[in-house]
Amino acid sequence: MAGNNFPSLLFCSLNLLLAGIPRCSSEPSIDFQMTLWMQGDLGVNTYRIPIIKSLPDGSLIALSEGRKHNSADVGPKFLAMRRSTDQGSTWSNTTFIENDGEDPDGLNLGTVFVDEEKNIIFVVYSHCAHKCVFHTTFLISSDNFGLTWTKPFNLSGQIGPSIFLPGPGFGIQKKKDPHKGRLITCGHSHPGRDGVFCIVSDDHGASWRVAGYIPQQRSFEPDESQLIELYDGSLLMTSRNQDNFHCHCRIMSKSYDGGESFAHSDIYFDETLVDPVVAASLLRYRNTVYFSNPASKFFRINMTVRWSEDNGESWVGSLGVWKGPSGYSCLTTIPGTQANNTFIGMVFEKGVTRYYESIVFVRLRL
Ligand SMILES: *[C@@H]1O[C@H](CO)[C@@H](O)[C@H](O)[C@H]1NC(C)=O
Ligand SMILES: *[C@@H]1O[C@H](CO)[C@@H](O)[C@H](O)[C@H]1NC(C)=O
Ligand SMILES: *[C@@H]1O[C@H](CO)[C@@H](O)[C@H](O)[C@H]1NC(C)=O
Ligand SMILES: *[C@@H]1O[C@H](CO)[C@@H](O)[C@H](O)[C@H]1NC(C)=O
Repeated sequence: MAGNNFPSLLFCSLNLLLAGIPRCSSEPSIDFQMTLWMQGDLGVNTYRIPIIKSLPDGSLIALSEGRKHNSADVGPKFLAMRRSTDQGSTWSNTTFIENDGEDPDGLNLGTVFVDEEKNIIFVVYSHCAHKCVFHTTFLISSDNFGLTWTKPFNLSGQIGPSIFLPGPGFGIQKKKDPHKGRLITCGHSHPGRDGVFCIVSDDHGASWRVAGYIPQQRSFEPDESQLIELYDGSLLMTSRNQDNFHCHCRIMSKSYDGGESFAHSDIYFDETLVDPVVAASLLRYRNTVYFSNPASKFFRINMTVRWSEDNGESWVGSLGVWKGPSGYSCLTTIPGTQANNTFIGMVFEKGVTRYYESIVFVRLRL
C-alpha cells in the first residue's frame, strides 16, 4: 500500500535485504552524458519527444520524432531510433524506422514497452492527430530487440476512432497481480474523449481495448501521461496539468485494478512537483520511485530528477540535471551486471537558447 510511514532508512535496509546489494543507494549523481540527436542531424530540422526503454537482451533503445521541415507538432516526420548495448556508453547510428513521407499531419510519439514473457518490443504512436477527422493509432513491434520492425498495424478498429496520443514515455507490463502480464499504455485525447485514457492488452499485444478513463472537467484537463507499477501491484500515473488547474504542478492518479479505473479519490495534485505544463516521467527501480521534469512553474528550464522512498507520497531528494532550457524527458532502468547495475538513465530535450535544440542521454549513478 502507498502511504507507508516507514522512514527511508528502513526502506534502504529493506532494499539491501531484498536485492542483496553490498551498499545502500546514495544520492544519484551524473555519471555520463551524450548527445543523441541535434537539430539538423541527417537533414532533419528538429528531433523531439525522446523516449527510452531497457530491453531484456541487455540493450537500450531510444526513439524520437525526426521533424523534417520545422519544429512544429504537425508536419511530416521520421521515427528515429538508436540502440546501445553497453549501458548507454556508445550508441548505434540513427535509423529511421518509420517515414510518413510528406504527410501534412504525420506521426506523433508515443510509447515504447516490452512484453517480457514473449520478448516483443512495441511502439504505439498516433497519426494525423491535429487535422484529420479520422485519426489513426498505430502499433509496430519487434521480435529482435529493435533490429527490425513490423509494418504499422492500425489499432483504431479495436480502440475506436477517438484521438489517442500515447504517453509520451514508456508503457508497462504488469509484473504483479491484479492482471499480471497485462500490457498498459495511457495517453490523452481531444474532443470527444477529452482527458486521459488507458488501453490494455491481456494477450501479449494481439488485441487491445480501452480501460481506465479520467475525463476532463472544465479546466481540470489531464494531458500527456506516463505510469509505473508500484511494488504492491498498484499503478501510479503522472499527468500534465494542461490548464494549471489548482496549481502549477502535476496531476497524479492511482489505479488498484490494473488500469481498469482511476477512482476520483485516487486523483490528486502533487504540489512538490512544480511543472510548467509539459510531459514528465516516472520510474520505479527497486523500492525507489524517480520523477523527472523541468522543475519550474512557468518555463521549460531546470531539468530535475527527484526520488521518493514511499511510493511518491513524498520526495526526499532532487538532482539538478540541467539548469537551462529543458523540455520532455523519459527515465529508464539501465541493464547491467551484478557488479555495476547501480545506474538509471534518462533522455531529455536540452538546449542553450531553446529546449528543443538537442536530445541527450544521461546515465545517473545511484
Ligand atoms: C555511422 O555513420 C557514420 C557517419 O555517417 C559512418 O561513417 C559509419 O560507417 C556508420 N556506421 C555504421 C555501423 O553504419
Ligand atoms: C484505421 O482504421 C480505421 C477503422 O477501421 C479506419 O477508419 C482508418 O481509416 C484507418 N486508418 C488508416 C490510416 O488507414
Ligand atoms: C530548479 O529546481 C530546484 C529543485 O527543485 C529548485 O530548488 C530550484 O529553485 C529550481 N530553479 C529554478 C530556476 O526554478
Ligand atoms: C559494467 O560491467 C560490464 C561487464 O563487466 C562492462 O562491460 C561495462 O562496461 C560496465 N559498465 C560501466 C558503465 O562501467
